[in-house]
Amino acid sequence: MAPRSIIIDTDPGQDDAVAIMLALGRPDAVELLGLTAVAGNVPLHLTVPNCLKLLELAGRTDIPVFAGASAPLMVPLVTAEHVHGKTGLDGWDFPEPTTPIRPEFAPDWIVETVMSRPEKSVTLLPLGPLTNVALALAKEPRLAERLESIILMGGACVEGGNITPTAEFNIFVDPHAAARVFASGADIVVLSLDATHQAQITNDWLTAIKGLGTRVGVAFEGLLTFYERFDTEKYGTDGGPLHDPMTVAHLLAPHLFTGKRVNVEVETTPGLCFGQTVVDRWAVTDRPKNATWVTGLDSPAVFDLILDAFRRLP
Ligand code: BDR
Ligand code: CA
Repeated sequence: MAPRSIIIDTDPGQDDAVAIMLALGRPDAVELLGLTAVAGNVPLHLTVPNCLKLLELAGRTDIPVFAGASAPLMVPLVTAEHVHGKTGLDGWDFPEPTTPIRPEFAPDWIVETVMSRPEKSVTLLPLGPLTNVALALAKEPRLAERLESIILMGGACVEGGNITPTAEFNIFVDPHAAARVFASGADIVVLSLDATHQAQITNDWLTAIKGLGTRVGVAFEGLLTFYERFDTEKYGTDGGPLHDPMTVAHLLAPHLFTGKRVNVEVETTPGLCFGQTVVDRWAVTDRPKNATWVTGLDSPAVFDLILDAFRRLP
């Protein structure tokens, strides 16, 4: 089968970084058309160079990087240095990147790329707040049906929130953008905390990543050791959940995941539940089913998939 063409919209972030590497490690299955950076875990002036640093580490400076939105649509930016460190990629000392970014505004490039390619031939993987995706959809609403699918990390239902009691970080940062995306009519798969909390890094796996002895493996042992410390303390677990790579894993191996077609709406009214994904799991309303909500995953198999991809990186 020909590789699937994808665009990753991202706010790296150590877990974003693993997702990018997973895609780069599987050129047999995935053609990464570009990275579009958005403000999220850290401000845009850091997420853009973080994309470049990761591509330089992997020796893939042929992949273009585009800067997108520096702030959410309607609310001030909230960042997550408490999780990812002040650079967003704390845990490894990257050299300053030398690759130039591309001049186009990320949402414009997404529209141009998807609309100029055959219908249903590009999948979009958003790993951060949905600002760039909402702006692209605002510019070109037909993008929704032109895309093969949107496989996103965000939201929470059963697990509760990780930034407020009810909201997950990516959706909380830009709920207005998320509401637009869920209302767009696109084919959407959601890797929420309900799924990603089942994907916990183990010490053995991290040791295996370092044991690869490659420059990528050694760097990621540092990055993920830093990244885990916050969640292991918070949840009292042995390892941190690896959120964003579950999107790429779902693209590569959907049989490792289970899910349910549901209606998802986003709470945009200020108050206690601001940024919550309201999931109609039991179809108690007549609202249209607009997303596949992933409820389960085969964690050991997914971590094997990631390790295998890392084996193929420099
Ligand atoms: C999400 O928020 C970010 O901190 C992570 O990169 C992930 O995309 C998890 O809530
Ligand atoms: Ca992210």
